[in-house]
Amino acid sequence: MPPDTTILERDFMAPRSLADARSRLDRLWARGTAFLGTRVAIMGGAMSWVSERHLVSAISNAGGFGVIACGSMGPNLLAAEIAATQALTAKPFGVNLITMHPQLNDLVAVCIEAGVTHVVLAGGIPPGPAVRAVKDGGAKLICFTPALVLAKRLVKSGADALVIEGSEAGGHIGPVSLTVLAQEILPFMQEVPVFVAGGLGRGDAILAYLEMGASGAQLGTRFAASADSIAHANFKRAFLRANARDALPSVQLDARFPVIPVRGLVNEGTKRFLDVQAATIRRFQAGEVSREDAQLEIEHFWAGALRRAVIDGDVENGSVMAGQSVGMVTREQSVQEIVDELVEQATQAIVRRA
Ligand SMILES: Cc1cc2nc3c(=O)[nH]c(=O)nc-3n(C[C@H](O)[C@H](O)[C@H](O)COP(=O)(O)O)c2cc1C
Repeated sequence: MPPDTTILERDFMAPRSLADARSRLDRLWARGTAFLGTRVAIMGGAMSWVSERHLVSAISNAGGFGVIACGSMGPNLLAAEIAATQALTAKPFGVNLITMHPQLNDLVAVCIEAGVTHVVLAGGIPPGPAVRAVKDGGAKLICFTPALVLAKRLVKSGADALVIEGSEAGGHIGPVSLTVLAQEILPFMQEVPVFVAGGLGRGDAILAYLEMGASGAQLGTRFAASADSIAHANFKRAFLRANARDALPSVQLDARFPVIPVRGLVNEGTKRFLDVQAATIRRFQAGEVSREDAQLEIEHFWAGALRRAVIDGDVENGSVMAGQSVGMVTREQSVQEIVDELVEQATQAIVRRA
């Protein structure tokens, strides 16, 4: 490489070797790796019950960025999980807190006290006091955004990075695909690094989003089925068997009784959920149950269902949250193998394009 070539010129030249291609990948996600403090800009999306000390430390030790899912944990449990993760890795990792959690401020305090470097506030617009506490505590704040307008607002109020998650993702989802969100947001959001999520299973796809301006990617489903995941063998087997078209959003039968859209594998539970909705709506129409109680009954159907699937292994009645990327889970691999494979696929794609 001539010493006076600029980065821009180098990126238009054909990579002469795999090492050249790898350097190009490193330049493409440099903003992401600098922000996360990692070797590769691949985040392990927080997954309740799944993203605990073992998976999180495995992702960080593999060069990526693990994120603990706090879920419904209280401050003491979270403090213990952070300490246990720190015992397993010296690399950076984050903590994902749900904004609706009644002890949100205490949980932020736990993160700051433990020296957590990155806090993800998920599940709604983050409240001002929590945002201030993260920032005042010296941690970096990562937020999710479903639209450009909100992205700009979040950055103004203190977000240091954003995740845009398409409806292809596993778990709670919005209505818009990553393909569209990326076009709506990436060209117009230069202020902070943006990470893309939802349906990603291959490195060449990640590369395409980096070339559109993303700083990195977040994956959940592939890591959930990894050898380092504590998920029950039945849960992993269900992932191995499933195709993209088996991971469907939850169905809402009646607009008067909203159902939070969650993408997961179709099973007995998802079928029974339809029957329960139908029966509850009939009872409401017959005046046997109030609207509020009917709504609560529908909402309670899935209470504890993710734990039932992930920990107990009841993949027929539990909630087997999974993204459309589940079709790309073809064998149980270690996190390190997955990360290496993603990097290899992105690198090979750079070579092929040249
Ligand atoms: C089993 C499962 C549980 C999840 N739980 C959470 C969660 O608690 N909080 C959260 O912000 N996202 C959650 N997600 C979303 C992931 O963090 C990630 O953004 C998503 O899995 C990316 O899409 P992919 O599954 O296609 O890779 C969950 C996803 C899965 C598959």
